[in-house]
Amino acid sequence: MKVSEALSIADLRRLAKRRLPRILFELIESGVEDEHGLARNEEAFRQFRLLPRYLGDIAERDQTVRLFGRDYASPFGIAPTGFAGLLRHGADMMLAEAARDANLPFIISGAGAAPVEDLARAAPDHVWCHLYPAKDRAITADIVRRIRDAGLSTLVLTVDNPVYPNRERDTRNGFSLPLRLKPSILLEALTHPGWIAHYLRHGGMPYMSTWVPYAGEGKSAAEVAAFFRSQSPSIQTWKDVEALRRDWPGIFILKGIQHPDDAVRAAEIGIDGVIVSNHGGKSFDPLPSPLETLPAVKAALKGRIPVMMDSGIRRGYEALIARCLGADFVFVGRATLYGVVAGGRAGADKAIQILRKEIDQSLALIGCPSFSQLDGSYLLGAPAVPRHPCPTFQQAEVET
Ligand SMILES: Cc1cc2nc3c(=O)[nH]c(=O)nc-3n(C[C@H](O)[C@H](O)[C@H](O)COP(=O)(O)O)c2cc1C
Repeated sequence: MKVSEALSIADLRRLAKRRLPRILFELIESGVEDEHGLARNEEAFRQFRLLPRYLGDIAERDQTVRLFGRDYASPFGIAPTGFAGLLRHGADMMLAEAARDANLPFIISGAGAAPVEDLARAAPDHVWCHLYPAKDRAITADIVRRIRDAGLSTLVLTVDNPVYPNRERDTRNGFSLPLRLKPSILLEALTHPGWIAHYLRHGGMPYMSTWVPYAGEGKSAAEVAAFFRSQSPSIQTWKDVEALRRDWPGIFILKGIQHPDDAVRAAEIGIDGVIVSNHGGKSFDPLPSPLETLPAVKAALKGRIPVMMDSGIRRGYEALIARCLGADFVFVGRATLYGVVAGGRAGADKAIQILRKEIDQSLALIGCPSFSQLDGSYLLGAPAVPRHPCPTFQQAEVET
């Protein structure tokens, strides 16, 4: 199968699996500990049914969403995925360009390879910037300054990895940062010649460009990665978030919020939006699936700020389920990563096209003409689902 023939995200996953050495494919796939959380994310969607309302006029379907004062073409964006450049050289830029051309947001990971300044030039209106704060506060302040100087509008702080999680599958596989290719790993990698050739042709391990200025002159990519690991994760408190809020004039989003009280506190200190997430099952095994906490977060916030979610989305109809449970917008991590790994820029485009087509088709098949009209009345589900009106959250009025 070629990338152009892929019919689903699962097809792109199969192609990505074929291309990557096992240790790297499993870096995408892995969760933490016994990987119950990872499984829970996908199972959570299986608990719900979309309840169709037939015979309305659905000849034209609208999946556009207005978020933070901007219209996006679809209700999903691309979540931050660190080390994407290790999986395919240039993946960050490919994802940014694919998002720009599809008019979707792309969140560059704080552990990304592409310099934030280059991404800002390529896709100034579509790149949001994820921050991994450093233990050295001066570094954090400088990264935030660079994001601002690059003209980017949106900062995303992930709160769900205060310490390095227990990624047993990766450890068992011998994954470490910096990447050390032991003979057994190299031998297996040789069975994926396409990836090896591409990796070596582009100079091997990519630099984590954002961190280069802080690691010291003349450091190798491995040394920069080791420096990053010595600085991150760094424990953040509400006081740090408030300080960042004061320093950052643009849109400020917290990713990983699950408790309704935390969401309310975020809104109270001027946070512009939350992403309900369990890091795609990569943080802590007993965390709830975001679908379990989304309705309560939505209800607690009462439309004050947008509620977004990610974790487990592989099909367009899952964005509809998330919407019915209260999400104003969703993000995908692995879905677009499979695409870019499998086929570079064309693969990233393909993943977006697949999800977009599935959302359009799903709207038609449940008789709903527009994504923004979806609410709890379209959902049949196991847990009690609070019905909520279509949200009209206040658009953040933010100067950039
Ligand atoms: C390989 C990989 C790397 C990730 N790196 C980051 C990261 O650097 N920062 C972050 O906040 N989340 C990171 N995530 C989590 C994603 O942003 C997102 O929450 C998750 O992938 C969503 O779940 P899904 O993959 O099931 O769509 C990563 C996820 C994956 C799969």
